[in-house]
Amino acid sequence: MTTGVRADMRATAHTPPHLNVGEIHVWKASLDETSFTDDPARLSLDEIERAARYRFARDRSRFVAGRALLREILSGYLGRRPSELVFEYGRHGKPRLVLSPGGTPLHFNVTHTDSLALYAVTTEGEVGIDMERVREMPEWESIAGGCFTEHECTRLRRFSGDRRRREFFQAWTRQEALLKASGQGLTGEKAGAHYSRDSGYSLHAMTPAPGYVAALASGHPGCRVVFMTWPAASASTFSPMVETQGILT
Ligand SMILES: CC(C)(COP(=O)(O)OP(=O)(O)OC[C@H]1O[C@@H](n2cnc3c(N)ncnc32)[C@H](O)[C@@H]1OP(=O)(O)O)[C@@H](O)C(=O)NCCC(=O)NCCS
Repeated sequence: MTTGVRADMRATAHTPPHLNVGEIHVWKASLDETSFTDDPARLSLDEIERAARYRFARDRSRFVAGRALLREILSGYLGRRPSELVFEYGRHGKPRLVLSPGGTPLHFNVTHTDSLALYAVTTEGEVGIDMERVREMPEWESIAGGCFTEHECTRLRRFSGDRRRREFFQAWTRQEALLKASGQGLTGEKAGAHYSRDSGYSLHAMTPAPGYVAALASGHPGCRVVFMTWPAASASTFSPMVETQGILT
């Protein structure tokens, strides 16, 4: 099923657009181009401790930038200072906002690959977002057999070369986005078996940058997805591709 997705609306970094009922905002940012890269001032103690555990400086900088940007984006919606936000973690590590009494319930999820990060934000319940760089994957068939439904595996075998690589990572990001929406981690089970047309999730596939694919899963079917690039002044290459629902069956 393909429906229209509103593309590429930009916003200034400090005045994010109002998050309307029924909307999911997806922000794209480069973690190497923010002014937050080596500034842990916005982070909590546990985030600073986690940053210190990274072995490589580049990974540490990207983690710091990613968390600082998450706080900056969420604080814009909540009208609070980035350092005031408190996160708690689900059983498998999914971060959630600790709300102040009467505060706006804001749901979010994050994905990062290389220097690119995507942030999904909504008031409409749990979301999951995942992104991958399309690359060689010689063992794709055994991975697909362990993770995807038989229907999806059969579909993938119809393709070859670049097309198959792209389709494989699109299927992978759909699965991961669904897992991340539900807050699951590595379950050891055949993840595809959990999701069907009746799962209640909607899926949105997108191309955040050339050579990358991403998927967004929402437990609130029918949401409108609005795409934004951080900071507002940078040129956007963020192109939504198609919106799909129930594709895993
Ligand atoms: C937890 C998991 C979902 C993260 O995915 P990933 O592709 O490694 O990394 P991403 O960049 O997409 O996402 C990382 C972010 O997701 C969030 N996150 C962490 N645990 C999460 C969870 N259980 N659910 C949702 N989001 C989670 C965090 O914000 C994290 O950012 P941080 O590292 O800056 O804290 C992943 O490690 C995992 O366990 N995946 C399941 C694997 C699997 O069974 N795949 C089957 C596919 S067929």
